Amino acid sequence: MGQVTPALSAAAQGGSFNHIKRWRATLNNSENTSPNPVKRSLVLGGRGFIGTHLIDALLDQGHFVRCFDRPNVAPLGESHFNHPNFELCEGDFTSEAEVAKALEGCDVCYHLVSTTLPKSSNADPVFDVESNVVATIRLLNLAVKSGLRKIVFISSGGTVYGDPTQVPIPETHATDPACSYGIAKLAIEKYLALFHRLYGLDYTVLRLANPFGEGQRTYASQGAVAVFLGKVLRGETVEIWGDGTVVRDYIHVSDVVKALLASSAQSGEEHVFNIGSGRGHSLNEVLDAIERVTGRNASREYLSGRGFDVPVSVLDIERAKQSLGWAPFVSFDEGLERFAAWLLDNPE
Ligand SMILES: NC(=O)c1ccc[n+]([C@@H]2O[C@H](COP(=O)([O-])OP(=O)(O)OC[C@H]3O[C@@H](n4cnc5c(N)ncnc54)[C@H](O)[C@@H]3O)[C@@H](O)[C@H]2O)c1
Repeated sequence: MGQVTPALSAAAQGGSFNHIKRWRATLNNSENTSPNPVKRSLVLGGRGFIGTHLIDALLDQGHFVRCFDRPNVAPLGESHFNHPNFELCEGDFTSEAEVAKALEGCDVCYHLVSTTLPKSSNADPVFDVESNVVATIRLLNLAVKSGLRKIVFISSGGTVYGDPTQVPIPETHATDPACSYGIAKLAIEKYLALFHRLYGLDYTVLRLANPFGEGQRTYASQGAVAVFLGKVLRGETVEIWGDGTVVRDYIHVSDVVKALLASSAQSGEEHVFNIGSGRGHSLNEVLDAIERVTGRNASREYLSGRGFDVPVSVLDIERAKQSLGWAPFVSFDEGLERFAAWLLDNPE
């Protein structure tokens, strides 16, 4: 059974639990009629790569933040654990009772949980649908009951469109995912629209390109920038599937967080936004940039291409610029510099 616990470090040190009492007092204060009430945000998947950065930003903005994630997940970021406005709620996204507890008293929910990855999702579509789509429908039912004001969901700009017929890809492009992960993301988008229509639940979907940056695991099985950068810094040979001409849209994680924050305040007609840099880099260009930024040689080994990699995927981000008032700020090279500096300070 999931438990709402104070920050681990406070508990481990036998520290004060007053911050939890303050959180509870705020949640229970039904007479909070201030014109700018403090926002109470729930981050599902908050111990992951993007969630950790989002929580730091929400805390910086003065929000109360509850992080929901599985127990025993090694946190990528520790900075918020001692923050008085931070609360950790451990549980599994597939447990209705645990998600219900996490939602209590929250205004905005950022849904960042994914139980699957694009390339492995086809191995077990039933698991994908049950743990992502069905669990999200349960979340939406609970959100309606609890009076949640808004839900922000991260979808996938790299998989929902399938093989693009137009680049950069606008949100109006046909959707034709080639993997279960993309189908599940799209199904969740549709249920969000349905719950908005039926019950007025406000929502925003961010169709995210390829995020990279500080905190990302370099030993992971996805995230070309992180994997390549990690290998170059360790002096290992980089394996490239195909001839390195596959082009993707990479965005620094700080710009993703800005889009998430802008989404929570947005309330227009549009609900679905592409979030990327709007620019493409081939894998070869990524490696050239890594060499430039780190001053190290990237030893490259080219392997046979993978059939499922579409040649080019770059997102059209005009809608987000117009409706969210958001734009990417960090250039690819600057993002790489920040990430490389972080990796040198935080070796895995
Ligand atoms: N990283 C990318 O390349 C990328 C690209 C496009 C979209 N996205 C989406 O953005 C979101 C966040 O991505 P990320 O890179 O931060 O992922 P991540 O894997 O670092 O974080 C996801 C978090 O969800 C948690 N989680 C997974 N299953 C859970 C469960 N059953 N119960 C509770 N928690 C569970 C994990 O423990 C993890 O902390 C995901 O929805 C992902 O699909 C990511």
